[in-house]
Amino acid sequence: MKSIQVGLLGIGTVGSGVFNVLQRNQAEIQRRAGRGIEITMVADLDVARAQAAVGEGVQVVADARAVIANPEIDIVIELIGGYGIAKALVLEAIAAGKHVVTANKALLAVHGTEIFAAASAKGVMVAFEAAVAGGIPIIKALREGLTANRIQWIAGIINGTTNFILSEMRDKGLDFAVVLKEAQRLGYAEADPTFDIEGVDAAHKVTLMSAIAFGIPVQFDKAYVEGITKLGAADIRYAEQLGYRIKLLGITKQTAKGIELRVHPSLIPSKRLIANVEGAMNAVVVNGDAVGTTLYYGKGAGSEPTASAVIADLVDITRLHTADAAHRVPHLAFQPGAMSDTPVLPMGEVVTSYYLRLRVADEAGVLATVTGLLAEAGISIDAVLQREADEVGGEGSTQTDLIILTHDCVEARMDAALAQMQALPTVLQPMVRIRKEELA
Ligand code: HSE
Repeated sequence: MKSIQVGLLGIGTVGSGVFNVLQRNQAEIQRRAGRGIEITMVADLDVARAQAAVGEGVQVVADARAVIANPEIDIVIELIGGYGIAKALVLEAIAAGKHVVTANKALLAVHGTEIFAAASAKGVMVAFEAAVAGGIPIIKALREGLTANRIQWIAGIINGTTNFILSEMRDKGLDFAVVLKEAQRLGYAEADPTFDIEGVDAAHKVTLMSAIAFGIPVQFDKAYVEGITKLGAADIRYAEQLGYRIKLLGITKQTAKGIELRVHPSLIPSKRLIANVEGAMNAVVVNGDAVGTTLYYGKGAGSEPTASAVIADLVDITRLHTADAAHRVPHLAFQPGAMSDTPVLPMGEVVTSYYLRLRVADEAGVLATVTGLLAEAGISIDAVLQREADEVGGEGSTQTDLIILTHDCVEARMDAALAQMQALPTVLQPMVRIRKEELA
């Protein structure tokens, strides 16, 4: 049988990985897919570099639309990224009746509803395993492997750059800005790391997982997003002393009131497996009512790990493209007519527990006043840690750090209590509030 013909839009790090792995494992992949899968056309603005990467046997063009217009091409892989030209090209490929494979989490998290609707109307597949956690087959696991379950919650370390930075901060006791510079020098962080360090990349990914887990539309605009830029080495150290590690988590949870969708630094107990995921690695914990807790771990980025996910999608499409569209796995796991309108909760309605750090005057009654305000707000304290003033501010210091762990409470109530505590004259610096997840 003739090979499936694939057109590749953008041949950078991931595109080269796709090309190389497809060539290297050609025979094995064909045995699995039932027919050959061949990249026959590549579009890249740097034609000479692209041609050198794929050799003379593959047609290379500068114009991506020439790939989409080629009637021989069955599947278009979009590896351009961003929401601009990539969105137009994906929609044009769909309109031309091509199946699409993309690693573009930003595009799908923001414009997924439009793109999946266009694909369903045209009867083509849009596959995106590589968009979430790189080489980890988490989309496959959520959409198919766990299909018997009511998913209860997902918590993931889904951004390698920030996990690398947090690991280094903990290991070496360094501040964020110092480690970021080092990460950029080593190539772990991009020259413009904003999307990674501000939590946006993780929010794109958890938005996609949330849609698949709960059968809701992709709603990036409803996600709460907080990055790691304000984290201090002191908080990482105090958390450790209390038996916790700080990780940037993407969390989505089904509750009686609605769905939580949030990215922020979180304290997690050091004894949890996911707390021990270090460096640029990714991991996702999924809790389902039947299966219990499951953990997925691996490389969340890089040429061949991401290529592994892209090619898995190519194989899936090769197997399914002749199937009646209604009998394929739905894009978001649930049948399009069976999507839920359960709301995504505003952050004020999220229930979680907290780590608080207050730099306070080391005077009589300060602890009592602070804990009194928490008591008045109905917020229960789980643990308190106070360091000796000398240890915090040097010999003779009259200031100290007061660290409080709370039990669960609704975020709006904590916000109000924080404002009251911050207004106390004995609270000397902006307070630190980090959410805490037991992941039990
Ligand atoms: N920049 C991402 C990360 C990889 O650091 O994990 C691509 O999503």
